[in-house]
Amino acid sequence: MEEIERLAQLIRESKKTIVFTGAGVSTESGIPDFRSPGGIWSKYDPEDFTIQRFLSSLDTRKSFWKASAEGELLMEAKPNPAHYAIAELHQLGKLDSVITQNIDNLHQKAGVPEDRVLELHGNMQWVVCLGCRSRFPLLQILQKVKGGIEVPDCPDCQGILKPDVVLFGEALLQETLREATRRAQNCDLFIVIGSTLVIYPAAYMPTYAREAGARLAIVNLTPTPLDHYATVVIRGKAGDIMPKVMERVRLF
Ligand code: APR
Repeated sequence: MEEIERLAQLIRESKKTIVFTGAGVSTESGIPDFRSPGGIWSKYDPEDFTIQRFLSSLDTRKSFWKASAEGELLMEAKPNPAHYAIAELHQLGKLDSVITQNIDNLHQKAGVPEDRVLELHGNMQWVVCLGCRSRFPLLQILQKVKGGIEVPDCPDCQGILKPDVVLFGEALLQETLREATRRAQNCDLFIVIGSTLVIYPAAYMPTYAREAGARLAIVNLTPTPLDHYATVVIRGKAGDIMPKVMERVRLF
């Protein structure tokens, strides 16, 4: 496919590539995305995932912790070939950073160093106390939930515990957003993989890069609002496409 060769060429020419990922890069690891048919928002009500509802309703916190305990299997999820192809960009010295909307830690598991992964929506491995800001490994807190405590409190101050992910209505981590914006404006190639690009401010990143002169590439199963803005668009599954792209990059 000539688009695959075109993206490989852009990567060969790039000195500073940013990869921007959404839930679509993890569906082949068994983690459902949000807006595809059968995705998370076809099973759960996004309204239940607002910070207002989480803080005001004990029932919401109960169902959140129940879902987290059920979702514990997600912690077992393994990177798929798309994650490994992205990690290879780092090994080739091409990757400036990964800016991800995902909370599944799979870029780190695939070998991208922690300091090269900017998690705009947090990371589900950790739980934070809204009272004293202490952080705990999610698995430690899930032990309490599995022991019958429906809504675990902070072991240090008995405050409200929340998985360290950004809920709707919550401000993103300002320093992460600032750093991601700065890097997007300083790369020469910005590759979007597996996102509908409909949630802001995350979805501003490709535009920041493009406006600063970077080339934009989009690898996605379905059309996105920014396809017209991209130098190359490859329609298909990231786990198939990205290894083929890296095969071509390695040829030269
Ligand atoms: N390969 C390529 N693209 C894929 C694949 C795949 N294997 N599987 C799904 N996709 C595409 C879908 O077609 C869709 O366009 O990935 C995109 C996933 O989009 P969303 O489900 O909207 O996920 P995302 O863009 O990450 O959502 C952004 O919304 O709900 C909030 O905080 C949540 O971080 C999330 C944010």
